[in-house]
Amino acid sequence: MKKVVLAYSGGLDTSCAIPWLKEKGYEVVAVIGDVGQGEDFEKIRTRALKTGASKAFVLDLKKEFVEDYVFAALKAGAIYERKYFLATSLSRPIIAKYQVEVAHKEKAGTLAHGCTGKGNDQVRFEVTAKLLDPKLDTIAPVRIWKFKTRDEEIDYLTSQGISIEVTKKKPYSIDKNIFGMSIEAGILEDPWIEPPEDIYQMTVSPEKAPAHATYLDIEFRKGIPVKLNGKLYDPVALLKKLNEVGGKNGIGRVDMVENRLVGIKSREIYECPSGTILHTAHQELEALVLDRETMRFKQSVSLKYADLVYYGLWETPLKKQLDAYIEETQKHMTGTIRLKLYKGNCTVAGRRSAYSRYKEELATYGEKDKFDQKLAEGFIKIWGMPY
Ligand code: ARG
Repeated sequence: MKKVVLAYSGGLDTSCAIPWLKEKGYEVVAVIGDVGQGEDFEKIRTRALKTGASKAFVLDLKKEFVEDYVFAALKAGAIYERKYFLATSLSRPIIAKYQVEVAHKEKAGTLAHGCTGKGNDQVRFEVTAKLLDPKLDTIAPVRIWKFKTRDEEIDYLTSQGISIEVTKKKPYSIDKNIFGMSIEAGILEDPWIEPPEDIYQMTVSPEKAPAHATYLDIEFRKGIPVKLNGKLYDPVALLKKLNEVGGKNGIGRVDMVENRLVGIKSREIYECPSGTILHTAHQELEALVLDRETMRFKQSVSLKYADLVYYGLWETPLKKQLDAYIEETQKHMTGTIRLKLYKGNCTVAGRRSAYSRYKEELATYGEKDKFDQKLAEGFIKIWGMPY
């Protein structure tokens, strides 16, 4: 019997995919990647078995996800189209990596996922898997089966003698992990409509946030956040804490129209309190520590890096080369940024680093001034000379 390893979420599509793949002659092994979506994984695992999977594995990927994917993107300054911190995009390559690993252990020749044919996630799963093991094939049931609606999928499950509890037609499509949440579809498809308050799960509205500011001291070591208000945190606990504090202060809501890889523009709402806080702090520390030309060059690398992540090119040579460059830029990125969170705003309140390139004796207009102003005259003449 042919064996397939399915990236299983517990939702209706992937639940339907199990009997559908069995009908096509596959034995189905379900892989559930815990990237911090905070669900009842035992329930999801049971559900996979109930719908006909021969085995179902829950893999706790949170630590690796934060350390090797989220923090890599943070150091890179990767933000897609100026707004999106890439929470969903970053989770796909790690899930695909473990899907491939399970396929090897289980001696399966095929992978499957529950993505549609219009989105980015199908590309991320499949390109990552292909780069890791070109011999594995992928099958994408949702792209080829005939079901058009949730009701048709439920009817199919019933016809297969499977009864699972399904929630009523969900008004939105939601993807969640420890780095943030993506919400789309339903009434959000009209870009003129302001998102209703009830879509948000991680943040309160800025209007309802406390009327006093919250200060956060974030300490970085080589570009990685390690301490919060003087206390050491492991990476997973740090993100959780920042999501909580940021969420309470209405930080991290993003409403955007983005360019999908398949050429469609789509409207998506994101919640990413930890991403907003960490990128703000990281940028402030870079402003203090990096020299001017490194900063400018790195900005162009950030854009490229974000595109690579978004486009599913995590496992490519270029992405690895850029990682090496970025690592080099981060070697003096040690220091502390004080942020002020207040009603949806996250602003810098203070910065310090042993590697700071800010020299008060050069910047000051006071007595401590050591800048030799006479030198400016010759500098300006030569600077303007070519024109
Ligand atoms: N547009 C985002 C991306 O391509 C999120 C995709 C998943 N969104 C969702 N609501 N299910 O990374």
